[in-house]
Amino acid sequence: MRMVDILAKKRDGVELSAEELQFVVNGYTKDEIPDYQMSAFLMAIYFQGMSAKETADLTMAMVESGDQIDLSQIQGVKVDKHSTGGVGDTTTLILAPLVAALGVPVAKMSGRGLGHTGGTLDKLEAVPGFHVEITEEEFINLVNRNKIAVIGQSGNLTPADKKIYGLRDVTATVNSIPLIASSIMSKKIAAGADAIVLDVKVGAGAFMKDLGEAKKLANAMVDIGNNIGRQTMAVISDMSQPLGLAVGNALEVKEAAETLQGKGPADLLELCLVLGSKMVTLAGKANSEGEARAMLEGVIANGKALEMFKVFLAAQGGDVSVIDNTEKLSQAKYQIQVEAPKSGYVSAIIADEIGIAASMLGAGRATKESEIDLSVGIVLHKKIGDKVGSGEAIAMIHSNKEDVEDVKKRIVQAYNFSIEKPAPTTLIYK
Ligand code: URA
Ligand code: CA
Repeated sequence: MRMVDILAKKRDGVELSAEELQFVVNGYTKDEIPDYQMSAFLMAIYFQGMSAKETADLTMAMVESGDQIDLSQIQGVKVDKHSTGGVGDTTTLILAPLVAALGVPVAKMSGRGLGHTGGTLDKLEAVPGFHVEITEEEFINLVNRNKIAVIGQSGNLTPADKKIYGLRDVTATVNSIPLIASSIMSKKIAAGADAIVLDVKVGAGAFMKDLGEAKKLANAMVDIGNNIGRQTMAVISDMSQPLGLAVGNALEVKEAAETLQGKGPADLLELCLVLGSKMVTLAGKANSEGEARAMLEGVIANGKALEMFKVFLAAQGGDVSVIDNTEKLSQAKYQIQVEAPKSGYVSAIIADEIGIAASMLGAGRATKESEIDLSVGIVLHKKIGDKVGSGEAIAMIHSNKEDVEDVKKRIVQAYNFSIEKPAPTTLIYK
């Protein structure tokens, strides 16, 4: 096979075979295909798109480029969840113990990554003593015993995706639906999921700015799952404002603990119930999503969901007294109020801007080497539809530095106000 022939085919819109896609992915991963040919290939995909079969074949070629986690020693259907990116997305912290409380095995491999706030691992490390440096054997034993465990990302998962993503970033080919879909799905499949629930975000702060594009991405990912025998479901949810109220690591642990007791923000709880119902149904623990939802509400009401959170944290060294008593979580030195610049109704909150504001406080990582400050972040006091008076508090900054004028400015800019009360937001589009 010659790369140049494959390029010509893709350029002309001819469907590629699984063997051809494997040739490209393997060749590129092993440095046998140079960046310039791969760049041309990605751009051809950007313009020509890919059939559902090509997208599934590309995904599997990326899965096979590195290690695949074998979770076969864990009993039950392993369901994983993925969100296409929200700011301060606390759902994983809540969903994992929530569905585990119903006997759904949660074997989560999680990364730190770069971002506005930490990854799930960083957030969990806001619980003193909690660690993810466990062996694969311990990990599997913990899931079989408790139904839930989290392990740090293995070194060599989907190396092809890492390399291709890096090239996409600098060749203006990130925003291609088959490339995004295969990138996300390859990582979930390599991490051993039997079934996958996807939360595709749409809105100003999300990757997908409009509903039509979000639907296409959701369909592409569901098609990949179905084409390769992993049951997959997707939800399209709103990102016209951050989900919940807390953005920051320790702050989100507190929010998760509250939500697991039914005392958290309504939108965050609702999305967790919707995603959780799908996970429980895919795992075969309920016959319908309605039944699953009632079961999830049950374990929140009877305390089992919170108990599961504590069992999970304690099994990996966490001091769970901070969950019963969240003031014991690390606290920032200063709490500084952000005031509304005018009166009116909140009409939008650009999630990305809130995320950047949180990272300016030190809640996220700018480079792989940077340290995260687990105690800092932002708690929103007002969300879309809320009425505010000029000078009223819209958010609280939790900071370890006293001068946060730049952060304040960023938060104020993220908030849009209107004179008329805006139409109610839709949390779940589809
Ligand atoms: N997230 C991913 O993992 N891959 C993409 O291509 C886009 C978002
Ligand atoms: Ca949050």
